[in-house]
Amino acid sequence: MTVESIKQSQLQFWNSPDALDQYAYSSKPAFLYPGELPILGLFRDRWPSVRMLDIGVGAGRTAQYFAELTPHYVGIDFAPKMIEACQRRFAGRWPRAVFQEGDASDLKEHADNTYDLVLFSFNGIDCMPYEQRQRTLAEMQRVCKPGGRVVFSSHNLFCIPLIPKFQFTAHPMRLKEELTRWLQVQRRNPPVEQAMAGPHVEYDDGNIGANRLFFIRPEAQAADLRAMGLEVTAMYANHGHELRTEGDGHDPRVSWVYYYCLKG
Ligand SMILES: C[S@@+](CC[C@H](N)C(=O)[O-])C[C@H]1O[C@@H](n2cnc3c(N)ncnc32)[C@H](O)[C@@H]1O
Repeated sequence: MTVESIKQSQLQFWNSPDALDQYAYSSKPAFLYPGELPILGLFRDRWPSVRMLDIGVGAGRTAQYFAELTPHYVGIDFAPKMIEACQRRFAGRWPRAVFQEGDASDLKEHADNTYDLVLFSFNGIDCMPYEQRQRTLAEMQRVCKPGGRVVFSSHNLFCIPLIPKFQFTAHPMRLKEELTRWLQVQRRNPPVEQAMAGPHVEYDDGNIGANRLFFIRPEAQAADLRAMGLEVTAMYANHGHELRTEGDGHDPRVSWVYYYCLKG
């Protein structure tokens, strides 16, 4: 598959009524994931002046927090339906917040060194293959101010052994869904040992239509970020605990990892 056909397939999923329902529902009561809570401490009393770019904003889960904290908030997403949902939901609530279509791997409408905080939340960056993902990280670094923060989360390669396991449930509808997911995972992926042999892999977890997601070893991701001029100041697991040593990330229960970076 080419980068363009992968993008089209991803767009088809993220523009679908199912994706919209799932993300509008999951973002109704305002919440941040535990690994995102330390973002709030990054700027403390400076929030009202923080210029923020919120990439892959979806139906606005994170907007509910951050557009409340700063009037300099810009949320972008490449799925027009997601942006329409944000505009509909939040019209009038934050008059200065901007919601616009935009592809993370090409932020040409955003000048160098513009934002204090560039966020790509909830593994949205894993919707793309390696080269496009690298371009996206370089773009996030470019539009961030020196001294500013780049924060994103990404799937942990070490959780792959849990994905092909069948998760039994007594609920008949969910059981049927799980069977469909499980069959898709078996059919569309290499064996676990092969999938985990390299620093990263594209792997179908059965949850994003017929699309593969990107999984990476945390130490490989940290090395890539350093090579791009981003200092990794902290890493957190999806449940919120800090990953202090390499071994902490080599745990299948860590499904995804939050990377907190400082642009020097
Ligand atoms: C897992 S959802 C997360 C949505 C929202 N951030 C949340 O946490 O509820 C990922 C989002 O990233 C968006 N996305 C994926 N690839 C993108 C790209 N290349 N540029 C911009 N947005 C993208 C999708 O449309 C989707 O809304």
